[in-house]
Amino acid sequence: MSNYHIKNLEEYFKVYRKSVHKPEEFWEEIAEEHFVWRQRWDNVMSFDFEKPEIKWFENAKLNITENCIDRHLRTRGDKTAILFEPNDPNEEAQHITYKRLAERVNQMANVLKDNGVQKGDRVCIYLPMIPELAFAVLACARIGAIHSVVFAGFSSSALATRINDSDCKIVLTSDGSYRGSKSIDLKGIVDEALKTCPSVKSVLVAKRINSDIHMEEGRDKWLQPLLDAASKDCEPEIMDAEDPLFILYTSGSTGKPKGMVHTTAGYMVYTAYTFKNVFQYRESDIYWCTADIGWITGHSYIIYGPLANGATTVMFEGVPSYPDFGRFWEIVEKHKVTQFYTAPTAIRALAKEDLAYVEKYDLSSLKVLGSVGEPINEEAWHWYDDNVGKKKSPIVDTWWQTETGGILISPIPYVTPTIPTFATLPLPGIQPALMDENGEEIKGNLVEGRLCIKFPWPSIARTIWGNHERYRDTYFSAYKGKYFTGDGARRDAVGYYRITGRVDDVIIVSGHNLGTAPIEDAINEHNAVAESAIVGFPHDIKGNALYGFITLKETGESRNHDNLRKEINQLITEQIGPIAKLDKIQFTVGLPKTRSGKIMRRILRKIACNEAESLGDISTLLNPEVVQQILEERIA
Ligand code: PRX
Repeated sequence: MSNYHIKNLEEYFKVYRKSVHKPEEFWEEIAEEHFVWRQRWDNVMSFDFEKPEIKWFENAKLNITENCIDRHLRTRGDKTAILFEPNDPNEEAQHITYKRLAERVNQMANVLKDNGVQKGDRVCIYLPMIPELAFAVLACARIGAIHSVVFAGFSSSALATRINDSDCKIVLTSDGSYRGSKSIDLKGIVDEALKTCPSVKSVLVAKRINSDIHMEEGRDKWLQPLLDAASKDCEPEIMDAEDPLFILYTSGSTGKPKGMVHTTAGYMVYTAYTFKNVFQYRESDIYWCTADIGWITGHSYIIYGPLANGATTVMFEGVPSYPDFGRFWEIVEKHKVTQFYTAPTAIRALAKEDLAYVEKYDLSSLKVLGSVGEPINEEAWHWYDDNVGKKKSPIVDTWWQTETGGILISPIPYVTPTIPTFATLPLPGIQPALMDENGEEIKGNLVEGRLCIKFPWPSIARTIWGNHERYRDTYFSAYKGKYFTGDGARRDAVGYYRITGRVDDVIIVSGHNLGTAPIEDAINEHNAVAESAIVGFPHDIKGNALYGFITLKETGESRNHDNLRKEINQLITEQIGPIAKLDKIQFTVGLPKTRSGKIMRRILRKIACNEAESLGDISTLLNPEVVQQILEERIA
């Protein structure tokens, strides 16, 4: 029996050592015993971080949906696979059993095929958190199409960029979505996007809010009638271990979003293994991750990881504040949730509200609490521990990225002693390294540096769609022979890791990765703007918020600044989405620059964070005089 399920600290260390000394043997045992393969691999793994080329379970054949659905049918056919909790608490929850999931996924797969989708085609999924979203993702995997889920909070222009980057043939969307008391016209956003997307031949529209929408003749079809009419049988496409499973876009510090490509077998093995251990999952558990499936957390830990383990996974359509701030806790009580996985920004927002919202509900079913997406501050950690976990449920502070496919550094609950704000120890198979300014690895403990990973794990992204060079440059060029994460980290006296945050121009706002360059590009499109620079500053709820320093083409009071601020945020909303709006906009006479003309964001960051006393030497700047003026007009 392999060490699929780690039960104590001694075992963790034993398993970890094995995963480092004999990685192939380690992963081979797990792959062999816990999954269904159509053909075995010839070689467990090979890699070359120079090219870079990474392969796991070479030449193995499988279909991930056989592992996530079919193989459970005999023993768990009537068990709930997806527990759908609607936005409105008065609408009944849906218990979608494994049997029903199999039928719906096969029907969806047949609908996709009938609409011309073939193995290898890209399918854009722009749906709210409704069951059709999960069916669509799994249906793509069933027929070997590559899903590209775009978070349904992105604007039409962000959607178009993503559709065009990977030439999607078809878009799945809905007439609209519910978000608390609001409804959003998703189909209108798709229509707008498709004006610039020549590759899209058809649109399948799920009915959710029953709004009166435009249906384009010859292009748009209602989804549910097609689903209901389709056959419930669909043979799975037999995929190669390294065939792409999906593309998921993530912001980079520069340029357009990066379409991270994840492949089939390694991703499946790693997400399943980490789900089992990081959440100490047991057969009768009710597991709930509050993320949206539009992000990697939803892909790996709402869909693939839980379903590969035959789990019941809760899918929530709504928001934590509707109808009131007790909504999360009401759901925990109602469904007797055992594992609850959310983001620090949600915890901080709820911690600001009356404790009565939490105390009103029975949370005694909870066994494990999770956190993901950004560093969790100590105050939020304690609030979560005291009021939600009642000091009895370990908090797993899980560190990972879209690129890593699965959790890399995290406590294992009831195994690893936790310390607030520490992601603690690497999971088996993960070999972190901290690097110094000169590119050397920093050995020993009580040190801080840039976080790299020295050895591949099964679910590392294999490339950036259509741009392998960018993949190499972004992740493998900063430190030779290592994957660079873009994060900084500290290692404490016992070897625990604490992630300190991004070291590049990516800012994490409410757990969403935002590259500064695309936001600046959007601002610079305003005809009054000469140039701009965005930096992050600490925010009570969002973790970070955005501060924009903007120089106008014409100075003076000829334009109303409040109107300009509104127009700029409107442009950002249109180009990227409301999540990227600026909290503070300061119009400046100029931006501090080096003599070679590079904007000194470091200085602007200090000003935004009110740390002007540590600005350092600014005399070498091209225009030191602007710094004083920016300081004087700083927005508090
Ligand atoms: O900076 C780290 C932060 O989120 C980044 C990855 O963002 P994304 O690709 O959107 O994936 C988020 C969900 C996995 C990382 O580079 N981050 C994520 N989890 C943590 C974190 N920072 C600190 N602690 C965490 N637990």
